[in-house]
Amino acid sequence: MDYFHRVDGDLFCEDLPVADLAARFGTPLYVYSRRTFVEHYEKLDRAFADVPHAICYSVKANGNLGVLRTLASLGCGADVVSGGELHRALLAGIPPERIVYSGVGKTGAELAAAVDAGIRAVNVENVEELRVLSEIATGMGRVQPCALRVNPDVDPHTHEYLTTGRSENKFGIPLAEVGAAAGLAATLPAVPLVGLDFHIGSQILSHVPYQAALRQAREVVEDLRRRGFEIRHLDIGGGLAVRYDHERPMTADEFHDGIIDLVRDLSLALILEPGRFIIGPAGVLVAEVLFVKEAGGKRFVILDAGMNDLIRPALYDAVHRIEPVRRADGDAAPADVVGPVCESGDFLGRDRALPAVRRGDLVAVMTAGAYGAAMSSNYNQRPRAAEVLVYGADATIVRRRETYEDLVRLES
Ligand code: LLP
Repeated sequence: MDYFHRVDGDLFCEDLPVADLAARFGTPLYVYSRRTFVEHYEKLDRAFADVPHAICYSVKANGNLGVLRTLASLGCGADVVSGGELHRALLAGIPPERIVYSGVGKTGAELAAAVDAGIRAVNVENVEELRVLSEIATGMGRVQPCALRVNPDVDPHTHEYLTTGRSENKFGIPLAEVGAAAGLAATLPAVPLVGLDFHIGSQILSHVPYQAALRQAREVVEDLRRRGFEIRHLDIGGGLAVRYDHERPMTADEFHDGIIDLVRDLSLALILEPGRFIIGPAGVLVAEVLFVKEAGGKRFVILDAGMNDLIRPALYDAVHRIEPVRRADGDAAPADVVGPVCESGDFLGRDRALPAVRRGDLVAVMTAGAYGAAMSSNYNQRPRAAEVLVYGADATIVRRRETYEDLVRLES
């Protein structure tokens, strides 16, 4: 579900023609629909209304302050994985008691910043981190509630790079070592163990892998409680898929119905860390066609946006639908939709059905709200795209286009 739709064949974001946005703000341009991500947040929030829960939006998916401020205003929390994300979340007005901090490699400075802010929980991913965190918090005269991130060794059936809860992945504490880690936490002065956490991967289509992880987590929670730990929350990470092409991801209600029986009787608060589910469908990347070229028996549609703007196709073989922005009559024919970056891996879609387009036409790369702008770079010295947030008939620039000045500003 999203608020990108067609009026007489022309693509609109909410009440605004996307072509007008491109004319106003230039291309490449990320266009976000506020209604879309607000509705996705609300759907998930409503689906879990029958249990105490907190939604901690995964900032890494799209940390734009305009997005974060909007979510903050709805009462949404944040899942952060770096000091930079923590800074952004706080700046956007997300209260520290709604922030959790995951990540395999947190620096001392990052942990200190989390303690200083007074966040809800640090998701600790190894035993040594527990010791370091306790030392830091003690030095600051503070305590830092934490959760142990366990690695449940579950296959989420997604892309290899998006799998995080198998035993061979770098994330979390192996199940067999969780008891010992908890034992250590109990001897340390400043790291009360209040929760358990897992995150098994991303773009997960079914609730079944979550069930598998939850069965394991239940046992750990029960065991820790028997040993006297007051486990108050269970963080089940993010990972809910969105529809890019022909996938059939679960709805918020299906997700809830699929897992809730494994959670309800534990009487603890559930934390969810969705990123993509909230912001993925709420964004498109708009680009202009620079050239159309026939070569090697192929049609290449060359855009002014490339892998530096959206790396997902190159990195994960991800498929994003690509559509003309203006009404296009005529039959679709195969095309490789590529960018200007000097790499053969610089494509946004290969062998895609696209109607005839010519120089100056606009195309939209759909479902690009998550891990689009967030993973963009200046490779080939390309200034990063502008980002615009649409709400009804209003459009606000939430990140201006970078300039050549910006590209060299930090160098001497
Ligand atoms: N929590 C933790 C600890 C995570 O590592 C992640 C994502 C999330 C939550 C949010 O996952 P989501 O709900 O968005 O699936 N760049 C990749 C996705 C990498 C996800 C990394 N961790 C992509 O473009 O598909």
